[in-house]
Amino acid sequence: MSPFFRVGFVALVLGALGSLAIWLTPSWFPTSAAVQADRQDELYFWLMVMSAFIFAIVIVFLVYSMVKFRARPGDDSDGEPIHGHAGLEIIWTVLPIVIVLGFAIYGAAALGRNEALAKDRLIVDVQAQQFAWTFTYPSYGKLKTGILALPVGRQVEFHITAVEHDVLHSFYIPAFRLKQDAVPGVPQKLIATPTKLGTYMVTCAELCGIGHSQMRTVLHVLSPKDFTAWIADQKKAASQPAAGGSTDPAAIVSSDCASCHTFQPANATGTVGPDLDNLASDASKYGGGQSPEDYVKESIVDPDKVVVPGFPKGVMPTTFGTSLSADQIDALVQYLLKGGS
Ligand code: CUA
Repeated sequence: MSPFFRVGFVALVLGALGSLAIWLTPSWFPTSAAVQADRQDELYFWLMVMSAFIFAIVIVFLVYSMVKFRARPGDDSDGEPIHGHAGLEIIWTVLPIVIVLGFAIYGAAALGRNEALAKDRLIVDVQAQQFAWTFTYPSYGKLKTGILALPVGRQVEFHITAVEHDVLHSFYIPAFRLKQDAVPGVPQKLIATPTKLGTYMVTCAELCGIGHSQMRTVLHVLSPKDFTAWIADQKKAASQPAAGGSTDPAAIVSSDCASCHTFQPANATGTVGPDLDNLASDASKYGGGQSPEDYVKESIVDPDKVVVPGFPKGVMPTTFGTSLSADQIDALVQYLLKGGS
């Protein structure tokens, strides 16, 4: 047997062992909780099996060549000039084409199935801003929520965007293996069909500023019955006080402040901005003689006017003066200064 075939044989055996090792490796991915995730994991698995096989073959020939054809001590001569080998060239052209085309077709088919739209799909609008997610359910009276809930087994179509003049974010649900940039003014779509009840992470996967690491929330995959109940609860919470949106300051804190500020009464632990538990003392230190109420109000409506030393300027959104009503701001100021009561 020629050395080429001997080395080739060793390469094939080691390649097969590499593939087997991948086969036997326990999955290191997060739980798969969507039909789309299962298809992607399967494709990824075959890619890994094939890669391990090819990697082993390449390394065996590489190591063989390094040992066999190395320059001996004292040998400074050039290597022998050689011309191509038609047979080899055909093999290393045709084989990769077949492999790559095979995976391209497999991948395209998986993508097509992942994005096939179901008639009864649920639409959820996803909006990103520094540093929070807002979800809107158009088919449930435009209900807005800060956490995401989905019924199991029903396809969902996310419409993803970011608020005007914001930076880029990326909507990422690891359990769904889905990720999509949130771009101001350019809505993007993502399709998922949850398969497993449970609570999963929703996170931002695009470095978007100082609060990037805090820009996360949860996804609850619920039974259809629990989902209906959850929607009813959220609607009730949103409509409880009189006209003009929720004046419940605790709700405002958890949806608008908690990702960047610490505030113990609301279990908020953000560290992007100042700790709101110290508002009264901050007001006397930095308020320039204003009453604490005026200082807190100014900080909400015009956050860059006074910036607490040690915290960055221009990070807090300047839109709360318009997105919150006067009643909401007053309630919030009182709530924050009274330590959550
Ligand atoms: Cu938004 Cu990172």
